[in-house]
Parts: sequence; C-alpha cells; structure tokens
Amino acid sequence: MSQNFDVLVIGAGPAGYIASIRAAQLGFKVACVEKWRAPNGELSLGGTCLNVGCIPSKALLASSETFEEIQSHAGDHGITVKEAKIDIAKMMARKDSVVSKMTKGIEFLFRKNKITWLKGHARFVAAEDGAYRVEVLGEAGSELVEARHVIIATGSKARHLPGVEVDQVLISDNEGALQFDSVPQKLGVIGAGVIGLELGSVWRRLGSEVTILEGATSFLGACDESVSKEAFKLFGRQGLNFSMGVQIGEVKTVSKGRKTCVEVHYTDAQGAAQVLECDRLIVSVGRVPNTEGLGLEAVGLATDERGQISVDQHCQTRLPGVYAIGDVVRGPMLAHKGEDEGVLVAERIAGQQPHIDYNCIPWVIYTSPEIAWVGQNEQQLKASAREYRSGQFPFMANGRALGMNSPDGFVKILADAKTDEILGVHIISAGASDLIAEAAVAMEFKASAEDIARICHPHPSLSEVMREAALATDKRALNM
Ligand code: FAD
Ligand code: NAI
Repeated sequence: MSQNFDVLVIGAGPAGYIASIRAAQLGFKVACVEKWRAPNGELSLGGTCLNVGCIPSKALLASSETFEEIQSHAGDHGITVKEAKIDIAKMMARKDSVVSKMTKGIEFLFRKNKITWLKGHARFVAAEDGAYRVEVLGEAGSELVEARHVIIATGSKARHLPGVEVDQVLISDNEGALQFDSVPQKLGVIGAGVIGLELGSVWRRLGSEVTILEGATSFLGACDESVSKEAFKLFGRQGLNFSMGVQIGEVKTVSKGRKTCVEVHYTDAQGAAQVLECDRLIVSVGRVPNTEGLGLEAVGLATDERGQISVDQHCQTRLPGVYAIGDVVRGPMLAHKGEDEGVLVAERIAGQQPHIDYNCIPWVIYTSPEIAWVGQNEQQLKASAREYRSGQFPFMANGRALGMNSPDGFVKILADAKTDEILGVHIISAGASDLIAEAAVAMEFKASAEDIARICHPHPSLSEVMREAALATDKRALNM
C-alpha cells in the first residue's frame, strides 16, 4: 500500500520547503522528500541555500569582515588592538551552528505545519489516473507514495570542469570552500562570478593572496557597466588579482617537498601560456540543475538543452499537476526567486491566481562593498532603444556612510524619459542588500523616480542616497 498525499514536494531547499509550508497552510496534506546529508552524517533540510550556500557563506563573510575591520580599520576609530588573530576552527564552528539553527528551524516548521518529511531520494515511477507514483529510496529501503500534485524542487549543484577532479580539499567547489581548515597562503579561483567573488573575498580578508582566473573578457557582465567598472577597481584595490579572458588548460596537484599544491595551466588573454601555483583552488564556474535519477522519463518529462525542466510562466510543466520551481528551472538561481515560485505554485494548486514579475526580483552580490540591482541596466535599455534618464549619487556625499567608514559606491536610478517610471536601480555600497528592497517595492508598485524623491527618508541613513539618486534623474540632487 502506498501513502497518499495531496501535494508531494521533491527537495527541501528554499523553493521546496517554502512550497511545502504554503501548501500546508492552504489545507493540503503535504509530504516533502529530501535526502541531503550534513557532513556529520545527519539528514538535513534546507538544500544548498542553508547547508552549503547563502547561509554558511554569509556567516563566513561576517567573520572575515569583522576580522578585517578590527585588523585594518580599528585604528581609524582611535582603537588600538594589539594583534588580531583568527581561529579558523572556531569560525567554522560558528558557521556550522548558524547552519544547524536554520536547518533545525525548518524541521520545526515542518512539524508545526504537519508536513511529512520523507527521508530519501525521490524518483518518478508512473503516472496513473491523474495521479503520480513516486518511489522514495531511503536508508530503510524503498517506499511508494502517490500524489495528484507534484512539485519538483530539486535545485542545482556546482558545475565542474572536465578533467578537473574536485576533492573538496585542495580543489573545491562551494562545498569545500566553505570548510577550509586553515587560511591558504595562495588561493586560486576559477570563475569571477558570484561565488568566486564572495568566497575569494572571505579568504582574502583572512590573509590569502587570491588570484581569480576568468574566462570572459568583461567583468560581472550581468551588472550595470558603471557598477562592474567600479567594483573591478575597488576589488583590485583590496588586493584581489584578476586575470580576465583566460582559457583554462590542465589543472593538477603536484608534490612540492612536504606539501602538495595545485597547478592551473592556462592561456592568458594575450595568448601566452601561464601557470598559477596555489595552495588551494576554488572552482566556481556556475551551477547545473539536479535531475539525475529523478525518473522524469517514466512520466514523459524531459530536460531541455540546458538541463532544466521546461515550465510556463506559472511553473507548470507539460504534465497536469506537475510543477517545477527554483534552480531546476529557467530564471536566476537565487533563493528568493525559488521561494516566490514555491508560494506561487502552492497557491495555484489551491485555485488562486498569483503571479511573479521576474523583472522585479532583486540580485545581490555580498562582496564589500555589496552590489545589488533590480530591473534593467543601462546596456539593456540602450539595446532596446528605450528612452531613459539616469540619476546617480555617491555615498561619499552621505554623512552616515562617512561615519560608518563606508564612502565607496553609489546608487544609480534609471527612469523612463517620458513617464518617469523606474526601470532599474543599481547599487554598489555597504548595505546594498538592504537598500535594494526599497527599489524592489518601488518597481513592484510601478513607482516613478519622483515618488522616491518625494518620500521622506530617515536622516542620517544610507537610504538618503536612494532619494538623492531619484532627484538626480531630474538634475535636482540636493546634496551635490
Ligand atoms: P536547492 O537549495 O539546491 O535544494 C534542492 C534540494 O533538493 C536539495 O536539498 C537536494 O538534496 C534535494 N534533492 C535533489 N534531488 C532530489 C531527489 N531526487 N530526491 C530527494 N531530494 C532531492 N542565493 C541567494 O539568493 N542569495 C545568496 O546569498 C546565495 N548565496 C549562495 C552561496 C553559495 C555558495 C551557493 C552555492 C549558492 C548561493 N545562492 C544564493 C543560490 C541559492 O543557494 C540557490 O538559488 C537556492 O538554494 C536554490 O533553491 P532550490 O530550492 O531550488 O534548490
Ligand atoms: P556564476 O555564473 O555567477 O559565475 C561563473 C563565472 O565563471 C562566470 O564569470 C563565467 O564567465 C566563469 N566561467 C565559466 N566557465 C569558465 C571557465 N571554463 N574558465 C574560466 N571561467 C569560467 O557562477 P557561480 O559563481 O559558480 O555561482 C553560481 C550561482 O549561484 C550564481 O549564478 C548565483 O545564481 C548563485 N549564487 C548567488 C549568490 C547570491 O545571490 N549572492 C551567491 C553565490 C551564488
């Protein structure tokens, strides 16, 4: 006899666990299948985001920023610190405890919402009479479950380079890079994307000499060009070494006396053969959707050329009752995007009519300063021949930023030339991850730059720069 559920969710990352909770709130009988094992062997909810992504990386960012602040900037405040030292084991234990609090929190939420956690690997077996049969293969063997609605939220995993063996010690993807046991003297990173910059910055702040090898010739191509230019300048000043436009060749570990290090052979942008020797290497060249062993073929589903499951704008696959959300489908691989899709799908199953405006999903890169944006950038507006006005205001002219010792960066607002509707907001600054929320709200409500300019912003605060940038679209910034 198989167990029956109204909604079966496969995967308990941010997309799947939120879908499960929302579906349970709406009165459905819900089960969520999850197989993730933490390094201590325990099964864990929360997916990539909580276990080896957003949460642990931000915990390490905070530790490394605190270390750098004490070591390099305490003196600016007149504070003398004898010698700042970092205990990596303790830093990692703190990170692990943050992760554990969060993942245990989801277990609590599952119990509270009466969601059944099926522990194991899910695989479609058959579609019959409008319901789907799924096998869950766990430690104790396999069990069959049935549901009329299935939400696939299986997420993604790190893309690896062909021929480069990731051992998570000397050569790591995001998983290994979040658990180094010491500060590498020389750290190599392949890929100057989000992970390379965030984790590269963590280890640079802790003392590593970091070299980032990037295949593209342009830096942070998804950002507004003014932001990527500023970021490249600031990160270079901080000591991150970039080699752009490279082609990676052989990557191997070599014994040097008593230690083993990594050699990355590559061709630089000028076509010259180069070798980067480093103590550890992080490979961060993007992520690929998780669909292996999911049995999609058993129910007539397939992946597209990018390995993703095809869905419409409401995350519905070609099968009635089967949805896919989060990193396993098109769109940005961001936790909050997956969460919103989880809510959307649960509510559509309940007959509601929600929708997501993908143009209003904010992006954040947690470097220092942070980078955040929502909507379109100037390159995109130029390409679409949309007439727009641009307003930019620097944090250098903001009292709170100066008081915080964070004068770098700016806010740039792009607004339609005729209607003044905000089309995009681009920020590079301390606290950009929080500042961008105002821009996302404004865009969801189709606000104009004038609306932001008219709203009273607290003084002194970083948010005043948002208002000044809005005023600057009409050439009437007040403090410049
Ligand atoms: P996942 O979180 O990948 O979860 C999928 C789950 O499905 C996994 O737990 C997996 O075990 C399970 N699963 C897969 N197949 C099966 C199966 N057949 N049976 C049972 N279970 C299965 N995003 C942000 O928005 N902000 C950030 O700051 C951020 N930082 C990041 C930092 C790093 C280092 C990384 C790697 C990613 C980061 N991301 C961040 C991206 C974010 O983690 C992902 O976008 C998010 O986790 C995707 O959620 P998801 O639920 O789709 O998939
Ligand atoms: P990414 O897509 O951000 O960056 C990968 C980089 O590697 C690109 O610049 C690409 O040009 C480069 N690259 C690809 N192949 C290469 C090769 N063979 N040689 C040299 N360079 C190569 O991917 P990343 O950093 O791995 O992150 C994956 C995803 O995880 C992100 O796209 C994002 O969706 C998510 N993420 C989000 C975070 C956030 O929201 N703050 C933080 C970390 C990850």
